[in-house]
Amino acid sequence: MSQAATLTPEVLDTLIALVREHTGIAMTARKSVLLERRLQPRLQELSLASYQAYLERVASDRDEVSHFIDLVTTNDTLFFRTPQVWDYFRDRYLPAWARAHPDACLQIWSAAAASGEELYSIAMLCEQFRLQSPAFRYQILASDISQQILAAARAGQYSGRSVERIRLSHPELLRKYFTATPYGVQVDDALRQHVSFAQHNLLEALRPPRQFDVVFLRNVLIYFDAEHQETVLRQARKSLKDDGRLILGESETIARLGTGYQFEFPMIYKTGEA
Ligand SMILES: C[S@@+](CC[C@H](N)C(=O)[O-])C[C@H]1O[C@@H](n2cnc3c(N)ncnc32)[C@H](O)[C@@H]1O
Repeated sequence: MSQAATLTPEVLDTLIALVREHTGIAMTARKSVLLERRLQPRLQELSLASYQAYLERVASDRDEVSHFIDLVTTNDTLFFRTPQVWDYFRDRYLPAWARAHPDACLQIWSAAAASGEELYSIAMLCEQFRLQSPAFRYQILASDISQQILAAARAGQYSGRSVERIRLSHPELLRKYFTATPYGVQVDDALRQHVSFAQHNLLEALRPPRQFDVVFLRNVLIYFDAEHQETVLRQARKSLKDDGRLILGESETIARLGTGYQFEFPMIYKTGEA
């Protein structure tokens, strides 16, 4: 039975190659326990007796590829994760951008949006900015490779740790932009009306092509090897306007990579020559 399925070194290698092929994520054999923990329940759901049988299923069934991607991606996120980034965005970026572009609509891409806490953090700061600059307009594209996590972002329903964190860090924004429900909170339409959602693999070109002022590409480069990091950064550059900003996660740096971005502040890069 599937409960007894074991991950042999050969099948593990094939699984790791499959993860890389479909997501770009670089895993090593040290991730075998993680892969087993995530995939074993799926084997049981499908009544499959072995990982080999599961590999064959993924190879022959496009819908299963989507499940596989949902299972192997790590979707941890938080509202207002890494406060320095939000201080920069609220206090420096938004006022300067609005002064320089009085008639334009700010285009933002949350490029590995996970369950949406990042994109609604962006939207809350943009809404707050509108209180002092009523003519300010903005649009956010939220994308992720995982259909399942993107559906959660679209639903905008939060509970548990997610809500506790924002209750502590930004209680006034929680009260203002969310409605309490029996299970937790629901993000209000005032934020949702500025957001569109798309499944997208960062290793590929964005379709249809778009140009953004700011790309939030946070806490996703860490999952890729240097080759794929460069590919992702090159693709992101094509979607950034000149004088755009690329915002990375705390433990990410692109200093070693020749990518056409210039350092502005820790985690914040400007677009240089394309
Ligand atoms: C740890 S979350 C980061 C969420 C958010 N950006 C943050 O910093 O809190 C990483 C996200 O990257 C997504 N991801 C992984 N590989 C991807 C790829 N090749 N293309 C697009 N998204 C990917 C995962 O599905 C996951 O939701």
